[in-house]
Amino acid sequence: MAVNIAIDGPAGAGKSTIAKKVSKELGFIYVDTGALYRTVGLNVLRQGKDTRSADDVVPTLDGLRVSLRFVNGEQRVFLGEEDVSEAIRQNEVSMAASNVSAIPKVREFLFSLQRNIAAENNCIMDGRDIGTVVLPDARIKIYLTASAEARAQRRYKELVEKGQEVVFDDILKEIELRDYQDTHREIAPLKKADDAVLVDTTELDLEGSVEYMLKVIKERL
Ligand code: DC
Repeated sequence: MAVNIAIDGPAGAGKSTIAKKVSKELGFIYVDTGALYRTVGLNVLRQGKDTRSADDVVPTLDGLRVSLRFVNGEQRVFLGEEDVSEAIRQNEVSMAASNVSAIPKVREFLFSLQRNIAAENNCIMDGRDIGTVVLPDARIKIYLTASAEARAQRRYKELVEKGQEVVFDDILKEIELRDYQDTHREIAPLKKADDAVLVDTTELDLEGSVEYMLKVIKERL
């Protein structure tokens, strides 16, 4: 049976950066489920519809094809035949993803895709509801977090390095708003699973976080 490691936590906690490195070390694939919600959000934005409105969003799911492919162990996400792995990283897509993710039909639409990948592959899967809903029987569950300020600081640096013009306070506000939305939605809200290990990276740099995470995982594998 495939070995699954679930990592959940708020935006900007370093889940993807850390999980990518840890999965390489373990020889597992890394599955970023946020990319799926981002792809649904991107598609709604492109159609000029309201990402907050279920009446607008649900019809866009009809016939929609979202898939993940792994090239040299690296995840690429496809909207139909279009590789949207870069397009979904635009800043406005983050909020769109959070908005559509609160709509039950969207979660239902993406559920089996995530389950099937986990059934067939040794993987680290990250998201908001992986340990609680998608993979409740995952071998190891980790809840990865850091203070909102630390997370905003990291996101700010990342966007500036990509050449985007951003204001720190806007990033912080957006992170706080996304935290609120992701933890307060009715369906599959972000929360620590009872059996998840809490890892707080506020005081850790990337290297320290990876090291700590590997230790937590290897102790339990
Ligand atoms: O991980 P991310 O920031 O790329 O995710 C974008 C949004 O998608 C996030 O604000 C909430 C939603 N999401 C979710 O609801 N469930 C997941 N498993 C992953 C992401």
